[in-house]
Amino acid sequence: MTRILLTGSGMVASALASEAHRRGHNVQALPHSEVDMRDLPLLRRRVTEFRPDWIVHTAALTKVDYCQENPREAVEVNTAATKTIVDLAQQLMARVLYFSTDYVFDGSQHLWYESSPTQPLNIYGASKLEGEIIVRKFFRGHVIRTSGVFGERLDGKTERNFFRAIASRYLETEGPISVVNDQHTAVSYAPHLANMTLQLMLEQQFPKIVHLTSKGFESWYGWAKLALESACLDSDRLVPVSCEKVSFRTPRPRNSRLTSEIPEVISLIALHPARQAVEQYFGKVLNELHEEAGIRE
Ligand SMILES: NC(=O)c1ccc[n+]([C@@H]2O[C@H](COP(=O)([O-])OP(=O)(O)OC[C@H]3O[C@@H](n4cnc5c(N)ncnc54)[C@H](OP(=O)(O)O)[C@@H]3O)[C@@H](O)[C@H]2O)c1
Repeated sequence: MTRILLTGSGMVASALASEAHRRGHNVQALPHSEVDMRDLPLLRRRVTEFRPDWIVHTAALTKVDYCQENPREAVEVNTAATKTIVDLAQQLMARVLYFSTDYVFDGSQHLWYESSPTQPLNIYGASKLEGEIIVRKFFRGHVIRTSGVFGERLDGKTERNFFRAIASRYLETEGPISVVNDQHTAVSYAPHLANMTLQLMLEQQFPKIVHLTSKGFESWYGWAKLALESACLDSDRLVPVSCEKVSFRTPRPRNSRLTSEIPEVISLIALHPARQAVEQYFGKVLNELHEEAGIRE
């Protein structure tokens, strides 16, 4: 039985905790409510107490605009805590798996492979890339880059993701919903990520860097259309707009189609199509929002 310590309790950590329990591993989660990644002495104590075989580091400041406005905090949470985690793993003879992002790229290429050159456009991407570099230098360190994560949180907090935002806007407003149609990406259903991640963790030859998402690429407009149509809602309310028309507070990569150059990873991704997961998740979120609205009335 592998001892797995998970930092954070967001979408990815929630799915990983469920899947790791299901597979019979000994899992300990460190939610933000118990350990702030900036409290390094407490982080050291909690990790050392558990003596993990693996530290799966998912906790991060993921709000892109907030990171841009609070660069120091972004570096403390996304970079400095990662250094402490790697130091602890070295002492405890543990392995580290660090979740990173498509935002380490500048979006100028059509497809992004594990070996593609990194060039973050914003503080979030830069702080995550610095964390990556620390993990990559560690000989028992591994990095998974992912994008567009969606899925439940199991810690009682409401998750933040694109599909939940579209569902809320659809139900709470009646007018048009503008969505960019020239920013392309893969989306990642957190249970898909958890399943593929745990599969890879079992392998002797876990690559240093892996690009892992659900299967399929679309523009954000395309993903929104797919979600609304899957729930038989009026997708004509969606208005495709170009990035130039939207004044993003923070620059973002135009094109972040993550793909893999590792045959085993390509085969794993092929087993996890995004479309069905979007349909299933979007339906569930709509039901929840309807129920919440019913309770408020
Ligand atoms: N979400 C995406 O679309 C996406 C895309 C690419 C890569 N990633 C990467 O995937 C990983 C997992 O993200 P996710 O999708 O699960 O995001 P998430 O749902 O936003 O979860 C992030 C977790 O980090 C915690 N956290 C934030 N600040 C913290 C702090 N100062 N101390 C301790 N914990 C803190 C959050 O706690 P609270 O929420 O309770 O504050 C939450 O549990 C991250 O490393 C992220 O960079 C995510």
